[in-house]
Amino acid sequence: MTIPALALPKTADGTSVEMPLLGFGTWQLRGNTAYQAVRFALEAGYRHLDTATVYGNEAEVGSALRDSGVPRDQVFITTKLPPERAGKARATIDASRRALGVDTIDLWLIHWPPSRGHSVPLWRELLEVREAGLIRAAGVSNYDIRAIDELTSATGERPAVNQIRFGPELWDARLVEAHRERGVVVEGYSPFKTTNLNDPVLTRIAAGHGVDPARVVLRWHLQHEIVVIPKSKTPERISRNADIDGFVLTEEEMAAIDRLGGR
Ligand SMILES: NC(=O)c1ccc[n+]([C@@H]2O[C@H](COP(=O)([O-])OP(=O)(O)OC[C@H]3O[C@@H](n4cnc5c(N)ncnc54)[C@H](OP(=O)(O)O)[C@@H]3O)[C@@H](O)[C@H]2O)c1
Repeated sequence: MTIPALALPKTADGTSVEMPLLGFGTWQLRGNTAYQAVRFALEAGYRHLDTATVYGNEAEVGSALRDSGVPRDQVFITTKLPPERAGKARATIDASRRALGVDTIDLWLIHWPPSRGHSVPLWRELLEVREAGLIRAAGVSNYDIRAIDELTSATGERPAVNQIRFGPELWDARLVEAHRERGVVVEGYSPFKTTNLNDPVLTRIAAGHGVDPARVVLRWHLQHEIVVIPKSKTPERISRNADIDGFVLTEEEMAAIDRLGGR
């Protein structure tokens, strides 16, 4: 498969980081199921893995990556810092690096906004870890625009990415534009859980391209340049979800899917 990548804002050493638009989500995958699913995803061609400290599967994701034989530098790895770990960012990233068995994490996110007044100090901790070269890019998850602006105005450093719940029914052109104006990449999570895959708009478009509605949803993200990270533990779905470069949605189809969001 040929999945395009987006360039993230520069890193501490000035190099650019390329983030594949399609990644593999691993929430709720544990133990051997996580290991097998990630092995299968890497075989199917995914080169971007999404995990988090709270998922409790970093060790399995790391072993699957090592055993896959895919070179480390060909896979983009995201993990996330629980905001309760404020003051312990360095220890947390070291635990993630150890569990994953890698020297550097490509993208580290604050998993959700900390309580009032704690966001900027935590963001500074992430920036220090980035300056130390332990992560290549720093970002946030579940932030609104106001909370992003608070970080940027306090530190002069914007988050590279905001990972948010997203899908056709949550389409909000103004929200996407607000991120773009600020140079923050939008990464969507739960593309299927937020979507009625039996919606007639999706089934009609899917039938026209000879694919299933799930792939239409993923392709819609790609064409909007929104990073998407579907999860599955089912081998056929894992590979089918990655098979999204063989068709292109027309402008009319994109607009019809946007309208599912009604915004
Ligand atoms: N930052 C955050 O706060 C946050 C929150 C939630 C998720 N995430 C990340 O985003 C990833 C994706 O979100 P998610 O896991 O919540 O949900 P999702 O990817 O929208 O949906 C996963 C569900 O869809 C099913 N599925 C997968 N492929 C399918 C297909 N082709 N057709 C029909 N059903 C299909 C899966 O079933 P099977 O597994 O049984 O195949 C599973 O039940 C997570 O794994 C995680 O990495 C981040």
